[in-house]
Amino acid sequence: MMASNSEWQVAGRRKGASGKKKKTRTVDHPVVEAGDSYRDQRRVTESMNELRVEDFWLEWKDLLGRLSSGSCTGQTGVQSECLQDCVCYGLGSFSTCVSARYQLALLLLLLDALKIPVERCSVYDPVFSPTERETLTALGFTVLTENEEGKRAVHQPTLFYLMHCGKALYNNLLWKNWSSQTLPKLLVIGNSFLGIQERTLQRELQRDYAYLSTAMSVCDETTLPCSPRFLDVFNDTALIHFSPQSLSKLPESTWADPEEPQYQHCQDLEIIRREQR
Ligand SMILES: C[S@@+](CC[C@H](N)C(=O)[O-])C[C@H]1O[C@@H](n2cnc3c(N)ncnc32)[C@H](O)[C@@H]1O
Repeated sequence: MMASNSEWQVAGRRKGASGKKKKTRTVDHPVVEAGDSYRDQRRVTESMNELRVEDFWLEWKDLLGRLSSGSCTGQTGVQSECLQDCVCYGLGSFSTCVSARYQLALLLLLLDALKIPVERCSVYDPVFSPTERETLTALGFTVLTENEEGKRAVHQPTLFYLMHCGKALYNNLLWKNWSSQTLPKLLVIGNSFLGIQERTLQRELQRDYAYLSTAMSVCDETTLPCSPRFLDVFNDTALIHFSPQSLSKLPESTWADPEEPQYQHCQDLEIIRREQR
């Protein structure tokens, strides 16, 4: 099961890892009880202050700054200064899970560095508690109330922040924006696509996550570093984008009539789907 509310548990990162919870004590906060928005806001601020001075964060900023030149979605893809919107899925329960809290703190640092107003960042995770939604609203985020299942159509350059999320979220996002004109507007900070490829059987990738599988072959991926202390929080993270040049290598038929993914063969979908009406 992907959703985990307990401290130190981050699931679903390795092939065959479903059901196995990883327990590593790389960060030193005590377990906390949920339910206090002021306390949570303070903790997020403290986490931001800790991360701000980490070398790996400075490297992230540097890598983002070096993103492409040219027009906003020019030959090399999206430029960081053109990003005006952000969507964050799958943050997790940040009031009880320290990894999710550091990921939230890093998201705030990213928005600040990229000059994306916090209110232009939409956040959604079905596990958010009412207090967590209150905290996110107080921090300035736009908290989504509907489960989009990752199917967010993009109209302008948008940062997607999906830390340790299920493959179906990426696949749905790609499907919704499946054209050689739109994909270059996406900048993803999330699971390394190369890592997903290594951990997943090729035939399963192609059968269940066809958009992700194709996208992997043409995306530009840059590994984002992290320090040993935050290994459990930011491991396997990459900056992923699509250049029109790389996409043009795909045959025209790639883009014809993209069918909505159904996942009827998936045993372990890894994401929570919206309730059927
Ligand atoms: C493996 S957990 C990662 C949590 C956290 N980011 C971390 O690294 O510890 C995957 C997260 O995706 C969330 N998730 C599942 N379905 C989702 C959906 N439809 N939309 C957004 N988030 C979803 C889960 O609730 C869970 O918090």
